[in-house]
Amino acid sequence: MIHPTALDEEVIFDGRSLISETDTRGTILYVNRKFVEMSGYSREESVGQTHNLLRHPDMPKQVFEQLWRTIKSGNIWEGYVKNLRKDGKFYWVIVNIVPYFDENGNITRFISSRKVAKREEIEAISKTYVQMCEIEKIASA
Ligand SMILES: Cc1cc2nc3c(=O)[nH]c(=O)nc-3n(C[C@H](O)[C@H](O)[C@H](O)COP(=O)(O)O)c2cc1C
Repeated sequence: MIHPTALDEEVIFDGRSLISETDTRGTILYVNRKFVEMSGYSREESVGQTHNLLRHPDMPKQVFEQLWRTIKSGNIWEGYVKNLRKDGKFYWVIVNIVPYFDENGNITRFISSRKVAKREEIEAISKTYVQMCEIEKIASA
């Protein structure tokens, strides 16, 4: 059971290597120890799922649509993401996703790492994300 006061509690990411790997559909193949520590989900709980496990309701849909368009076309995507932990707390990161290719140029998997986002950047981007979510809500009404 998530304690209700945990829901607006932030955990600060310390910048130590936070890695995950997925197949081309986004199914998690690998998470490192830091991923387990930050998300609260064990390897058994996260491998075989998608990163939707971490999706925070404050994240606009458009961000993930743009993420998928970018990586599926073979490009690197980097962006600010607010992630939801198993305990209901959240953490901000800059997610970097790199596609990997086989010898025929087909994408085989995606590898993601995470960097620390600066406080002032988080403040600015979270305002933008609130506006984006509001627009999405109006558009879907
Ligand atoms: C390698 C990789 C890493 C991802 N990392 C995250 C992440 O840290 N947090 C997150 O919410 N979504 C992440 N995503 C995007 C999710 O796959 C998913 O699109 C997102 O959580 C929104 O869920 P939905 O697409 O089911 O709506 C990642 C995707 C890939 C391919």
